[in-house]
Amino acid sequence: MTEISRNERLVLLFLKSASRKVREDEISIDGVDGRGIASAISYLDRKGLISVEKSYDVRYEATEEAKRYSEKGLPEERALDLSRDGKIFVSEIMESLGSQEGRIALAQLSKLGLKPRNGAIDIADTEKIRKILRERREALKSIISGSSTDSESIRHFLGRGGLLREEKKMIRIVSINSSGFDALSSTGDEESLDQLTTEMLETGSWKGKKFRRYDISMPVTPVNGAYYHPLTALIKTIREIFFDMGFTEMTGNYVESSFWNMDALFIPQDHSARDMQDTFYVDTNADEKDIPGDLEKRVRRIHERGFDGYKGWRYPWSESESRKLLLRTHTTASTARYLYEHNNPPVSVFSVERVFRHESVDWKHLAEFHQIEGAVYSREVNLSTLKWILSEFYKKLGFRNIKLIPSYYPYTEPSMDVVVLFNGKEIELGGSGIFRPEVGKILGLKAPAMAWGLGLERLAFLYYDLEDIRSIYNSDIEWLRRFTLKI
Ligand code: PHE
Repeated sequence: MTEISRNERLVLLFLKSASRKVREDEISIDGVDGRGIASAISYLDRKGLISVEKSYDVRYEATEEAKRYSEKGLPEERALDLSRDGKIFVSEIMESLGSQEGRIALAQLSKLGLKPRNGAIDIADTEKIRKILRERREALKSIISGSSTDSESIRHFLGRGGLLREEKKMIRIVSINSSGFDALSSTGDEESLDQLTTEMLETGSWKGKKFRRYDISMPVTPVNGAYYHPLTALIKTIREIFFDMGFTEMTGNYVESSFWNMDALFIPQDHSARDMQDTFYVDTNADEKDIPGDLEKRVRRIHERGFDGYKGWRYPWSESESRKLLLRTHTTASTARYLYEHNNPPVSVFSVERVFRHESVDWKHLAEFHQIEGAVYSREVNLSTLKWILSEFYKKLGFRNIKLIPSYYPYTEPSMDVVVLFNGKEIELGGSGIFRPEVGKILGLKAPAMAWGLGLERLAFLYYDLEDIRSIYNSDIEWLRRFTLKI
């Protein structure tokens, strides 16, 4: 036997006495609010005790722009007001209405057959047009007040765009069916109770009462709790991997001096990466005391003249250029600073932090993204330890087929790019290399050091099998829910 609740029973009784199809919002029951009725209908539907048809109520909501037009006049109406001696000048329309509304006015007038020629519109019969437009505005007013459903006017204003918003509301139309009648008669007149109260227990009035049983087979709506964002989840995984490999985490600042971002890494001051096209510069300069004086001298010497058989870049190094502040373009700036401050080997350090580049954004580029930076400074450093660490890192994330291809960075030699083959495309994940002797000399290193800077979002793109890197930041709720399972 189907058990029904008090509200369900009341709704069934209402439908029985109505003995016709009833719109959900026509049902009114003393002591039960709209939500209670709606939920009773859903349950009765699932239990198969009523028949439900769905219909849609369409309403039109006017935008602010539409309201403004209904008060001030439609743009085409206001343009018409500018007519003198059977002419309206396009330049006057633009000046008086502004370019946006001016363009709308011209488009609407031309649909009425009033097209400009030689910068002006000729109108023979202003009164006739005025009348059409007056009626048009009246129609807009009545749509806004909700008193008109004239489909032709609605179509006109919908077609103009930006004036009306269509709001569809689903309405259920319900009627009791034969199983519903059966359910009513089998429960009899006596209601079964939904709840046991303290009072019933105290007075003992529960004795002999009929209680509704729980239906544990009823489907329930899943509850979505809070989860980590997929990118945060991936960062956590990456941090665990580095911690497991014995690395220390370092942090840096978004705003960095050119000195740490470039000069300390032996990037020449005329290097293309410094161009305004690639780097976001900040208006102010770094404070003098932020850059150690002796280090500055060393950077100048090595850029200009090199050391011990290394020739340097051979140009006059500029202190003021190195003081320019910028949004860091790579986290290798943190590596430079960290190694300078910790120059006793062995050191293994990493960070997963944000960097900024003046890039045009597309399916595989972002202007703001994270780099997985890491460095090892030790006598053990060489190309095969670098290859091993990178492959090991990606292997732990499930990528077995990475390729390391020769590349160039001004601060490493040799340099290698990490590439992954994915869906027939080669995707570049980042760069790596062994710091040049010039960088070692600048930072005061006593052993070789190697480093890498890998794109986090590119990795997330592969890891989460996305089609567009931008979707990571779109926060589509369905996508976010789907990927909670990855943690
Ligand atoms: N900093 C480089 C980049 O932003 C990557 C890199 C880091 C290359 C360390 C070599 C060594 O692409």
